[in-house]
Amino acid sequence: MDMTRFEQLLKQTMGLDAASIGSAAVERAVQERLSACGLADAQAYWERLCGSSVELQELIEAVVVPETWFFRDPAAFVALARLAGEEAPAQAQGVLRLLSVPCATGEEPYSMAMALLDAGFPANALRIDAVDISLRALARAQVAVYGRNSFRGSDLAFRDRHFIATAGGHSPTEAVRGLVQFRPGNLLDGLVAGTGLYDVIFCRNVLIYFDRATQDRAIAVLGRLLAPRGWLFVGPSETALLSDHGFVSAKLPLAFAFRKGPAPGSVIKLRATPAPPRPVRAPAPVAAPPRPARPRVAPPATAPQATVRAEAATGIAHAQRLADQGHLAEAASHCEAHLREHGPTADAFNLLGLVRDASGNTGDAADQYRKALYLNPNHHEALIHLALLLQKQGDAAGARRLQQRASRLQPGGA
Ligand SMILES: C[S@@+](CC[C@H](N)C(=O)[O-])C[C@H]1O[C@@H](n2cnc3c(N)ncnc32)[C@H](O)[C@@H]1O
Repeated sequence: MDMTRFEQLLKQTMGLDAASIGSAAVERAVQERLSACGLADAQAYWERLCGSSVELQELIEAVVVPETWFFRDPAAFVALARLAGEEAPAQAQGVLRLLSVPCATGEEPYSMAMALLDAGFPANALRIDAVDISLRALARAQVAVYGRNSFRGSDLAFRDRHFIATAGGHSPTEAVRGLVQFRPGNLLDGLVAGTGLYDVIFCRNVLIYFDRATQDRAIAVLGRLLAPRGWLFVGPSETALLSDHGFVSAKLPLAFAFRKGPAPGSVIKLRATPAPPRPVRAPAPVAAPPRPARPRVAPPATAPQATVRAEAATGIAHAQRLADQGHLAEAASHCEAHLREHGPTADAFNLLGLVRDASGNTGDAADQYRKALYLNPNHHEALIHLALLLQKQGDAAGARRLQQRASRLQPGGA
């Protein structure tokens, strides 16, 4: 069956590039709908499709990929809590406005709500809009009963805190559900005119289904919806696109967070990733882990120190890039090799902690953050990440202590 006209229609209406899911998947969807309509052939179905917006929506429902789960790419939610916390003073008079598009069956916007509630944001300071083209996915989001597939990874402490067990699965509490407003919308139509600007937009794992021209259109829409100092989160395979559109990475490993690039002549302050040097008289670490082992492979005695430092920085930047691209195992190996070859550094332990965290190995993640803090008790990122990890594990007092330490640091210190 020639699928060309069906593929073109899907591209025009929802942006789908058939190559991203395979022409066979489009053909299966057309066959399925053709049979459901009781029609004889593709020509008859084409005529039905062209005359019926209801049938067009049915075909869209048959091709969408609503694959999602709670706290997918968890570092993004850690970063959300942190960045929103830093922006909160600017929001003091108002409400932090967030958008999840596409939200699929709701796991993403509910995760945003949980992350911000856990970070101490009051419910009345938050508003989360959640938009998707699939009416079926939105209906499931509103029913909000989730089975095992929505809970992946080993750290499910959030489920104990924010869900109620029901006959069909688990449902978020009213406190979480009340923060999210769902509505249908097409990213390519600019969603709904006059929605106002968002402080945070999650647009993850949909641009990968578009061709380049459609991706450009979608990013232009997102740029219009995002407040000048807002944050845009994308999926692991979508980061290169943002840089091409003048967005600047937040440089938070595995968070895939971006901000609009500075307008000519203005300066946007991004928190630098490298940590400040350890103070001469440092406060005691939270718990004193064993001092990390000396490097097994020393740098060549003849190498100038500046060259060694430059190589070390390049190595950790490479590990971070791998992590940002979602290659967690390789990123971890690079961090470990970096630690072996260049000796222990707080940045390397912090990155390894994030990679472990994102892989669901929270026990090891906590150890790595603690090692980072042992080397540099003022490592802001490690303090924040360990605080959020402890919070998730139910150690509210430990989390609060670390958050207080982080907030006492100089603004702008890493
Ligand atoms: C893989 S899910 C991503 C869900 C979530 N953002 C995540 O990362 O887990 C892709 C979703 O994109 C939605 N979608 C596809 N094209 C869209 C469009 N043009 N506008 C809005 N939603 C769209 C689909 O209905 C599907 O629910």
